[in-house]
Amino acid sequence: MAEKRESLHGQWSGRWAFVLAATGSAVGLGNIWKFPYITGENGGGAFVLVYLICIAIIGIPIMIAEVMLGRRGRRSPLNTMRQLAREEGRSPHWQYLGWAGMVAGFLILSYYSVIAGWALAYIFRTAAGTFTGVTADGAGSIFSELVSDPERLLAWHTIFMVMTMVVVARGVRSGLEQAVRYLMPALFVLLLVLVGYAMNTVAFDEGLSFLFNPDFHALLYKEDATGVERWTWEPVLTALGHAFFTLSLGMGAIMIYGSYLPERASIAKTSVVIALMDTLVALLAGMAIFPIVFANGLEAGAGAGLIFQTLPIAFGHMPGGAFFGTLFFILLTFAAWTSAISLVEPAVTWMVENHGVNRIYASVWVGLATWLLGIGTVLSFNLISGEEYQLFGKTFFDLLDFLTATIMLPLGGLFIALFAGWQMRRESNLDELKMGDGVMFQLWFFLIRYVTPFAVVLVFLNAIGIITF
Ligand code: PHE
Repeated sequence: MAEKRESLHGQWSGRWAFVLAATGSAVGLGNIWKFPYITGENGGGAFVLVYLICIAIIGIPIMIAEVMLGRRGRRSPLNTMRQLAREEGRSPHWQYLGWAGMVAGFLILSYYSVIAGWALAYIFRTAAGTFTGVTADGAGSIFSELVSDPERLLAWHTIFMVMTMVVVARGVRSGLEQAVRYLMPALFVLLLVLVGYAMNTVAFDEGLSFLFNPDFHALLYKEDATGVERWTWEPVLTALGHAFFTLSLGMGAIMIYGSYLPERASIAKTSVVIALMDTLVALLAGMAIFPIVFANGLEAGAGAGLIFQTLPIAFGHMPGGAFFGTLFFILLTFAAWTSAISLVEPAVTWMVENHGVNRIYASVWVGLATWLLGIGTVLSFNLISGEEYQLFGKTFFDLLDFLTATIMLPLGGLFIALFAGWQMRRESNLDELKMGDGVMFQLWFFLIRYVTPFAVVLVFLNAIGIITF
């Protein structure tokens, strides 16, 4: 039995508070902004299917492992890994997993904040009635106008970063629990309203079939620059990466929240609940958006602006649209906010633990660095969007997103699985999970030892072309 440890940074008021905070971290732009647009870019149903499989056999077991490591270590991810490696008699190098996670969180937040800035900007546009009666073209040009203006993007990015760092500086517990408790259900209800609107468009069936009818050709073949169709594995890698991104896995966010989890709470059940809620939100967002896309003759693969070009059309035409629209973008901003907080929490707690600084000081510095890097993403939508500034056909934003969500998070998750499955003693896992040595534990242990690492490695090897089917 490990000694009873308390986190330096406090504890949740109970299991339910953890569920709320972790859901706050998981549900964010990833579900409402990113899921629909990458699904659109990668051909729909088959992509969704691969993503769902990744959630089930990779995401959920890793989430359980991450929460478990966090609760056992009760420190920032870096110190948790160092501590647990020592306890289990393993190499101190495991702490680099904590390092990599902090770097990933920092990189992700730098662009996450820019996109959250779009959501902020849209609160004011919807409230001002800008979208009343808007056409698809109109919504498209309002969006382009916003992203082509670096100053405006920078201003919204700045506001969002300040909002995030203020909460982080004050400590995660104050306010966050209460806010998530009321605002998450409200976001859920609004998504239902949007799905209701989508049901009344002419293309609801088409939207659903795009989302749920797997077409593997559409997933695995893409046109290259010359218009020739070529086989590609990248969409599968993207789906895998998104399973990590959407559940906030692979970088320590869920680990740090796990470190505030009270001793008795059941980790496995809680993780499954969080993953299910997160998935439901993403699917609802997809069900709201694609019918609007098809009903208005828009491009499913329109890219990162997809929800900003489609949802305003719904708000512009439904009764009470300005009200619902404003509320929706407020809630979206809020969802992004609770995710952003969890992205920096590992770095801030580490600075407090290892450098003896207070949370305010740590937040200011981490925030400032993230804000600076975010300027790269701001500019990648306008001044440096051209091909001459791209690498492998990707803009600065696309590259950062690819590097973090598609490479760093799955790799982080892989090492978390390897640590929990192969480095921790079986008894330590049993002791911390507190679910008894029954079927559920054995299933998890089997998944985390064999299935999860194998699946991640397989997807990666395929992507770099070492094995091809
Ligand atoms: N899960 C968040 C979302 O879907 C993003 C996130 C990724 C948050 C990684 C924390 C860590 O928006």
